[in-house]
Amino acid sequence: MLLGIESSCDDSSLALVDLQTAKLLWHSKISQESAHSPYGGVVPELASRLHALNLPLLAQRAKDFLNGFGALKAIAITTCPGLSVTLLEGLMLAKTLALGLNIPLIAIDHLQAHIFSLFIDKPPIFPLSVLLVSGGHTLIVEAHGPQEMQIVAKSLDDSLGESFDKVSKMLGLSYPGGPVVESLAKACPPQEELKFTLPLKDHKGLAFSFSGLKNATRLAIMQEKEKGAVSESFKARLCAGFQKTATAHLLQNLRRYFANSPIKTLGLVGGVSANLYVRERINALCDEFGRGLLLAPLEFCSDNAAMVARVGVELFRCKDFSPLYDTDISPHTRLVYAPKFLL
Ligand code: KG4
Ligand code: ZN
Repeated sequence: MLLGIESSCDDSSLALVDLQTAKLLWHSKISQESAHSPYGGVVPELASRLHALNLPLLAQRAKDFLNGFGALKAIAITTCPGLSVTLLEGLMLAKTLALGLNIPLIAIDHLQAHIFSLFIDKPPIFPLSVLLVSGGHTLIVEAHGPQEMQIVAKSLDDSLGESFDKVSKMLGLSYPGGPVVESLAKACPPQEELKFTLPLKDHKGLAFSFSGLKNATRLAIMQEKEKGAVSESFKARLCAGFQKTATAHLLQNLRRYFANSPIKTLGLVGGVSANLYVRERINALCDEFGRGLLLAPLEFCSDNAAMVARVGVELFRCKDFSPLYDTDISPHTRLVYAPKFLL
């Protein structure tokens, strides 16, 4: 049995996976969304204190489930990327358990864990192209094996998830912004969405950019405020316009990528991959290009320990263990940026 621990941002989560079958046996998560919502984003100090509270509660639940920790053979822990103060909370729990139980510690790359959200209770499929859209990242990754993953395109500025969050914040709505913006966008009648310029329209290579679009939504809100109170119908038209343009930008990059890559399967992962409009549009593009699309179950799109434990199983099999007494806590199989197709 392997225990996975996730604390890279505002979700405390633990999961137990069988090391032989990779089957997810138990998982539990305590989210902090309501605590951060008044600030319109994650406050690291607050997140850290809440992990200090919630991780031991989750560990107790795992212990109750297992009738003690005797069956644990390894601990997998997200060590990067993420908020340093919250990563350390999880790492301390992981090191304490590994030390007390005399079992190996496996450092996990959070991005690799998101990719493995596609393979919960399933064997992995390689080669695989992945579009990773989260609060911290917007990437195209090529994965040729569990330890062989390269970032081939990334955002030049903001991530897509962060942009959803900012649009919600600018409209005075809650955090996380993605689900709020998605549901408001649904209320916009067809063809009535606000029009925004497609980011990096004339860029020839593969890259994402969301800061210009974010700024354009800010200006549209300011102009509307000058006219008076911002109506619900304006909010819906703005959210629909933002979501449509941001998704068109993802599609524009994927088209270019598909034209240059022989890999037949695309995985869509990260918090934003829970967005049904994004899923639908990418699904249609995959059909057009004859690519298979892999999606994670909705409950595993945002941060969770099940995906951490799932990578942990692969790395346990390769004996990719990390030292307990070391200040370098980087996972051995970090994703590297190796830009391709810079046309
Ligand atoms: O992967 P994740 O849980 O955390 C990071 O690794 O960053 O992603 C969180 C992000 C947030 O920005 C949130 O607004 C976004 O995912 N998100 C969504 C939706 N659900 C969550 N964005 C768009 N539509 C959604 N339905
Ligand atoms: Zn994440």
